[in-house]
Amino acid sequence: MSDDISRRLALAEQAAREAGAKALEYFNHRDQLVIETKRDAQDVVSIADREVELLINGQIARAFPDDGFLGEEFGLQAGSSGFTWVVDPIDGTSPFVNGMPNWCVSIAVIHQGEPVIGVIMAPCQQECFVSARGQGATLNGKPLHVDPSRTMQNHVTGFGANSYVTPERVGEIAAGITAVGGNFFRNGSGAMMLAWVAAGRLVGYYEPYMHAWDCLAGYCLVNEAGGWTHAFNTDGEALLRGAPVLAVAPGAKADLLKIARL
Ligand code: IPD
Ligand code: CA
Ligand code: CA
Ligand code: CA
Repeated sequence: MSDDISRRLALAEQAAREAGAKALEYFNHRDQLVIETKRDAQDVVSIADREVELLINGQIARAFPDDGFLGEEFGLQAGSSGFTWVVDPIDGTSPFVNGMPNWCVSIAVIHQGEPVIGVIMAPCQQECFVSARGQGATLNGKPLHVDPSRTMQNHVTGFGANSYVTPERVGEIAAGITAVGGNFFRNGSGAMMLAWVAAGRLVGYYEPYMHAWDCLAGYCLVNEAGGWTHAFNTDGEALLRGAPVLAVAPGAKADLLKIARL
């Protein structure tokens, strides 16, 4: 692994763990949080999201001042090194503010358009998923491998939806998964469900429209564990736009692509 990537990988894991601990403090005192809405009533946020992003941003700016940084809450700061950090400080804000444990810190690093590092820290479960391009994926230090022979039938497929997606489409996706003999699942954190694809808990994950900070760390994990991911364009302005997100075990790819109409 190049030194450029290994130094960033060490920081990504350290920052995810520290950010996770800070978010957990807020989670344990969430009755004191003021919950605000952003784009619509389903899109919630609190000071916890902003403070956790600032913590991660500060650590990266000190260690790699020439790297770019894109976070969900404060947007893009361009860099000059060719590396950009893409961070969701709390993915699963809705479960977080409602007292459910399905939320995580998601940190990716992209280089030449590709996610080369993906770290997802789930503090309530004390699970830290780590991956770097060409180095495999691990959960708390144990290697992760997607089973290539698994199909959707009798297995669990995650899907997510937000207000960019019509209610009719949500119903069709659930129906499509059911029709091939699969079980559909949603826990409120798309990033965590992508990590669960890498861990073989879910056979796949599909969401019609997500942002780079929701999916790139999970994509690195899934690819490094032997799964397949649908391309997500990170060139220029495309990095800020949303796109369909699909990650899947190879044996379930054809069925899930059909349901996703991709
Ligand atoms: C959301 C979660 C949710 C997914 C949404 C995302 P947030 O991220 O990942 O599961 O369905 O599309 O926006 O707002 O909790 O960081
Ligand atoms: Ca959000
Ligand atoms: Ca998110
Ligand atoms: Ca978020």
